[in-house]
Amino acid sequence: MERAKAKEIVSTWAFPTVKTSYMGGVEDRPILAKSKGTLVYDTDGKEYLDFQSGQMGAALGHQHPRMVKVITETMQSLLHASNTMLNTARLRLHETLGKILPKPLKRSLFLVSGSDSIEAAIDLGRKATGGLDIIGFHSGLHGSTSYLTRSLSFAWSRRKHTVVAPATSSIMTPNCYRCPLAEKHPTCGFACLKMSMELADANFTSQPAGFIGEPILSAGGVIVPPPGYFSALRKELDKRGMLMIFDESQTGLGKTGHLFGFQLHQNVTPDIITISKHFGGGLPISAVITSDEIAEKAVANGYFATRSHATDPLLCAAGEESVKIVVEEDMAGKARRIESRIKAALAEMSKEIELIGDVRGHGTLLGVELVTDREKKTPADAATSQVAKQCLDNGLIFQIRGYQGTQNIIRLVPPMVSTDAEIDRGMAILFDALKAAQKSPAAKQQ
Ligand SMILES: Cc1ncc(COP(=O)(O)O)c(C=O)c1O
Repeated sequence: MERAKAKEIVSTWAFPTVKTSYMGGVEDRPILAKSKGTLVYDTDGKEYLDFQSGQMGAALGHQHPRMVKVITETMQSLLHASNTMLNTARLRLHETLGKILPKPLKRSLFLVSGSDSIEAAIDLGRKATGGLDIIGFHSGLHGSTSYLTRSLSFAWSRRKHTVVAPATSSIMTPNCYRCPLAEKHPTCGFACLKMSMELADANFTSQPAGFIGEPILSAGGVIVPPPGYFSALRKELDKRGMLMIFDESQTGLGKTGHLFGFQLHQNVTPDIITISKHFGGGLPISAVITSDEIAEKAVANGYFATRSHATDPLLCAAGEESVKIVVEEDMAGKARRIESRIKAALAEMSKEIELIGDVRGHGTLLGVELVTDREKKTPADAATSQVAKQCLDNGLIFQIRGYQGTQNIIRLVPPMVSTDAEIDRGMAILFDALKAAQKSPAAKQQ
């Protein structure tokens, strides 16, 4: 389709987007036509390395042949079915997923989107504890449903939404590169956590129910909480009878080099986790997962969550195949190898590129923070935008993330099936763009 025709359709028929939002200017971006593995192609036939894995749903690679086969076969036998009856794809998914879960996690229920699963996980936590208040990181993002998940997406700016859900409040993100208390880990003794819990206690409007967080905060700037943080948080939660809920939308199923992102953090077992994104291998399915004990307590209090399409055989078969692919094709191992290759390339680049302030993340969820000055850590928003533009022109897709008010973090999420040659090509495109940005006046601007 011609670009002019696409613009006409967007300006006439599509719902308008806020220009400054991450959807803003979509009509000027590539119009995608097909994809395979790590590559996507636009309607002009131009090839791009997709270091964003679609909207993170293609972490197993676009059109994984096993996914295409299962989806095609299931469509021809049983595509949609009532959620008031069992179907074999649904049953198999409960069992396959259950068998790979670290104990005591065991029981699953299925929904459609990541936001759905967060809403259901919060509700589960509330029903299981009888509490109400939920706390989350101030740089966290947990979804886009208008009420609860946006209220808990503190990084998304709650002001954009009309009404905020009661009993939701934030605690400080433990961001050691930019410590909110100007302390240093580990001598800080998790001062941010102590301060946060004191404030949380003051903010609670009722008996608190739980905490929700990502094992690596993805949209909030690829922030990895420091070693020991989550065990210290767990103690604080236990003292208050609160549950620990991990949003594994972005970190689950191999992406961090572990089967689940929480396994990055030693001695931490969450009470509830959610998975979505590449769980469906490209189709929308999510899950809420918990232990026997928590499930039973919640159900005794009337807990229930589903959607019309929540147990569709098509989605469940896709979910089961994606879980099998993750395990049988050792996606976690692949993610670890990609991490080493990218981090080695970035370590070389940072000898020459002063703009690189920090490199962090695990597996195929990595962040490169650009600064105009390594000492002062001044966010290099203008240079980051220039780098992203040049990369896109040269065939590399990724997203820019930031803290509240900045846009200076390059987030790299290549599919776990990316080959060494694809990673090297992506790094070469990035290096060229960083060199150009460093030379331009934009590098000096915030
Ligand atoms: C960590 C996290 N949780 C939840 C969601 C919401 O998922 P969905 O867009 O499928 O509703 C997202 C979306 O990007 C996410 O990154």
